[in-house]
Amino acid sequence: MVLPTSFIQLLVLSAALVYAQPSPEVQQKISAAIAAAANESNPDYTSFVNVFIGTDNDGDVCPGASVPFGMVKFSTDLTGYAPAGYVTDPTQTIRGLSPLHDSGTGSSLGTYGNFEIMPMTCPGGFDTCSTMLADRETFRKNNTDEASPGYFAQTLDNGIKMEATSTRRAGLERFTFLEGSKPYFVLDLSNDLPVSFAGGTMNIDAELGRITIGGLWGSSFGPGRFNYQAFACYDLLNNGNQTLDEYGIWQGNPWGLDAKGLGQTHLNLTRSLIGDTYEYGALFSYSGTPQEIIIRVGVSFVSSDQACANAESEIGTSTFDEIMAQSKALWNEKLSTIQIDIANTPPNITEMLYSSLYRSSLTPNNATGETQGPFANTTSFYFDSLYCSWDTFRTFYPLMGLQHPNDFAQIVDSYIDGWRKLGWMPECRANNLPGWTQGGSSGDVIVGHFAINYHDEATALGIDLDDLYSAMLADGELNPMEWDIMGREINLYTQYGYVPFDVIDPSSTGRQTREGSRTIEYAFEDFSIRQVSLLLNNTANEETYLNRSLWYRNVWDPSTVSDGFHGFMQKRYPNGSFFFTDPTDCSPADTDENRECSLQPDNIEGFYESSSWEYSWFAPHDVNGLINLMGGNDTFVTRLDHYFDANYYLAGNEPSFQAPIGYHYANQPAKTVQRVRQAVLENFDITPAGLPGNDDQAAMASWATFHFLGLYPVSGTSQFLLVSPFIPSYTIHNTFLNTSTTITTVGFDPNSVQVTIPDGAAAYVKNVTFNGVELASKCHFDFYDVFKVGGTMLIEVTDDITQGNDCGASVPESVSMGGFATVR
Ligand SMILES: *[C@@H]1O[C@H](CO)[C@@H](O)[C@H](O)[C@H]1NC(C)=O
Ligand SMILES: *[C@@H]1O[C@H](CO)[C@@H](O)[C@H](O)[C@H]1NC(C)=O
Ligand SMILES: *[C@@H]1O[C@H](CO)[C@@H](O)[C@H](O)[C@H]1NC(C)=O
Ligand SMILES: *[C@@H]1O[C@H](CO)[C@@H](O)[C@H](O)[C@H]1NC(C)=O
Ligand SMILES: *[C@@H]1O[C@H](CO)[C@@H](O)[C@H](O)[C@H]1NC(C)=O
Ligand SMILES: *[C@@H]1O[C@H](CO)[C@@H](O)[C@H](O)[C@H]1NC(C)=O
Ligand SMILES: *[C@@H]1O[C@H](CO)[C@@H](O)[C@H](O)[C@H]1NC(C)=O
Ligand SMILES: *[C@@H]1O[C@H](CO)[C@@H](O)[C@H](O)[C@H]1NC(C)=O
Ligand SMILES: *[C@@H]1O[C@H](CO)[C@@H](O)[C@H](O)[C@H]1NC(C)=O
Ligand SMILES: *[C@@H]1O[C@H](CO)[C@@H](O)[C@H](O)[C@H]1NC(C)=O
Ligand SMILES: *[C@@H]1O[C@H](CO)[C@@H](O)[C@H](O)[C@H]1NC(C)=O
Ligand SMILES: *[C@@H]1O[C@H](CO)[C@@H](O)[C@H](O)[C@H]1NC(C)=O
Repeated sequence: MVLPTSFIQLLVLSAALVYAQPSPEVQQKISAAIAAAANESNPDYTSFVNVFIGTDNDGDVCPGASVPFGMVKFSTDLTGYAPAGYVTDPTQTIRGLSPLHDSGTGSSLGTYGNFEIMPMTCPGGFDTCSTMLADRETFRKNNTDEASPGYFAQTLDNGIKMEATSTRRAGLERFTFLEGSKPYFVLDLSNDLPVSFAGGTMNIDAELGRITIGGLWGSSFGPGRFNYQAFACYDLLNNGNQTLDEYGIWQGNPWGLDAKGLGQTHLNLTRSLIGDTYEYGALFSYSGTPQEIIIRVGVSFVSSDQACANAESEIGTSTFDEIMAQSKALWNEKLSTIQIDIANTPPNITEMLYSSLYRSSLTPNNATGETQGPFANTTSFYFDSLYCSWDTFRTFYPLMGLQHPNDFAQIVDSYIDGWRKLGWMPECRANNLPGWTQGGSSGDVIVGHFAINYHDEATALGIDLDDLYSAMLADGELNPMEWDIMGREINLYTQYGYVPFDVIDPSSTGRQTREGSRTIEYAFEDFSIRQVSLLLNNTANEETYLNRSLWYRNVWDPSTVSDGFHGFMQKRYPNGSFFFTDPTDCSPADTDENRECSLQPDNIEGFYESSSWEYSWFAPHDVNGLINLMGGNDTFVTRLDHYFDANYYLAGNEPSFQAPIGYHYANQPAKTVQRVRQAVLENFDITPAGLPGNDDQAAMASWATFHFLGLYPVSGTSQFLLVSPFIPSYTIHNTFLNTSTTITTVGFDPNSVQVTIPDGAAAYVKNVTFNGVELASKCHFDFYDVFKVGGTMLIEVTDDITQGNDCGASVPESVSMGGFATVR
């Protein structure tokens, strides 16, 4: 997540609002579908998905019409803070409907929203149409928003209905006007959500009924001086069934310029260097008073010709309903890889699970064949909006690895191609431009996770492990000149054993903040490089990176004390002294509303979007090492309890992901079960405000999904923690390995699926067998032993906390205790 600067203020504001959207029918239909599906073996999984979850409370989810990994996501753009275009807040107005959006991002200005179209009636005729944003913005008709996988609809309070459906790079828009009114449309050339227009062209071909647009816009979360190109092609005639009437262009600004050029057909403009924000676009109407207008839209990042070709090849003359059915079928393919016992699963869990799985295949955006800049004409797959790897390495890619290795491999290919073209893998590529790095090069963990789990299949999946490894080593060894956009500050990190604070960096540039969390994240990235070194038998690197993976200890200050607990991560001077920051700073309990905790230059805390209290739990590869630093298992457990009880747990952001499962490592798995139920059910629900923070390209969705399934991945390894499912029985199909694994909870008690597990409710793991063989540890297992072979796992649960509070043979692995010493 990236916190908007006015984050705290926004939270306060939104808490006071009344949430009136979407239409109540959306939830009614989903509830009815879940009830009806109880006995169906092959249900329509899309009918369980609520695309509005996360469209409020800064979830920033895009509910727009999209296919899996769609490059286009059709949604309206609203005023106010709306990074994904749509928001539920009924006090905001609609600017238009547009094809390009990201989902779940916390960028402060929003992203995309280019090529908006806005339907309207202009009773006074062409010259009187409200073309500029401020004039055309219109309230919605309250409580009528509707959307489902592959479909989006909103009705303006003037009664005009807008609907959209899509393919990967194109879509159809359907507008329904009131009887007897003449349809007018404004098509925008310059406005996008971050107000970043840097020049472009627009051409109206009245005979073809086609408007082409092309231009340059700026990054949503990266250097403002970089621009990307984008193109759109609007076909206005619905295969000859609609007739254009008037057409022309317009130009305006807020100071009285509001000119219409009837019959003019070209715009060719550059960025306004003096800084004025001019608005430009096309305006057209249809002959007669047709009630329904269909418009076909193609999008491209290569050229306007390609945008038109995309619309022709992907939509052609297909109808709106045909495209919608096609999109729904693609979604069912993705969603049906996890099948559950619907009849015995709490309905809210079914809805949250499938909505989370939906979002887990919504991004990143598949822009293969649509590349530009250094990636132009690449032969690799190309995915954009990797927004950001720091968010997604933890749970998003491990979830993909469980079910959809083909998708995972394509994205890994795109990461490796980033190294081929630019020298380092991407960290936060978005809008086809490099975005800001957060914890370093988290891509290492993503591609490492793939290599560890799929090295036997890598070639068949199109991945060259030597290239993959070279890309990781570039991140681990080569210092980029500017490490804010890719790579890490490796020179100083390797010189000191930590990223020092207040030091001269003679050979590279970057914002010298977050030294504590950067060190900790670098160390975990190094652990991933170590695992792949093991895999490839590179003994020298294996030893180097094993050492480096323990450098998280170098920012551990044993003398820092908070609430009576000793030892915290702190940033450190080059001379070895620590710089004290209060470990509670930037936690939810922090009362200083003006403190900067994100990428700001005055974030002096040493941590990124988190507190030292929280980041001090982060060594996923060596939790038992942390336990030793903290003074042993008992202190660790007391301290973890205190962290939750004292309100230091920031559920809405990714550094918190690691905390609830910490108890497993101290051999107290029943406490994990309790803490996970609480963390998930206090923070996630089926409403638009049902996410605790930015979804972050489904980082939140995939975190929740693992907990619904009773699993938790150790990213960069093949180890899974076993917690306690929220679902009595489910089957995961692996689409490449062609294996199916059914996990059934014997004695499942739906009453245990609550924030506080009541006495007498069975939730604690007593015994686990896989294909009839009892597992030695009840707390962890390996991907190779379970999902790779397929079969049946039986998890027997009990209400006896004492019996369930023991891992059996072993707790999950930690490197400093000799764990992760081999790869499978
Ligand atoms: C599902 O089947 C069970 C047992 O056959 C039956 O009791 C129940 O009413 C059915 N539910 C629905 C929604 O049809
Ligand atoms: C919709 O609700 C908002 C917020 O309550 C209100 O400001 C607006 O006037 C309503 N719109 C209509 C068309 O009733
Ligand atoms: C008009 O629409 C109908 C139905 O969508 C379609 O069959 C027909 O081909 C279209 N007409 C033309 C001229 O394309
Ligand atoms: C726009 O104008 C520039 C400068 O005259 C010209 O080079 C360019 O070809 C024009 N572009 C289009 C698409 O007309
Ligand atoms: C399901 O979610 C709705 C909306 O948050 C809530 O009102 C309801 O209590 C939930 N049901 C259960 C059984 O938790
Ligand atoms: C990509 O291919 C197109 C079409 O063949 C060509 O015009 C363009 O120059 C190529 N771009 C690069 C960077 O190779
Ligand atoms: C991405 O698009 C390409 C080109 O259409 C396709 O081959 C590939 O399967 C798509 N990948 C995913 C994950 O949807
Ligand atoms: C690494 O060594 C093991 C054991 O000798 C061998 O099975 C494996 O093929 C080797 N891997 C590579 C990539 O050389
Ligand atoms: C790793 O650390 C150990 C112990 O500090 C040291 O003896 C060894 O030389 C280091 N190895 C490498 C390759 O840095
Ligand atoms: C280390 O450097 C800091 C900052 O210059 C200084 O405050 C501190 O006293 C130094 N510590 C030692 C042990 O010299
Ligand atoms: C913590 O508990 C685990 C599991 O029982 C054990 O392996 C480990 O040695 C303990 N750690 C300490 C520091 O006592
Ligand atoms: C676990 O379940 C298996 C299979 O039912 C059984 O053989 C085994 O004895 C059980 N172990 C314990 C400790 O209950």
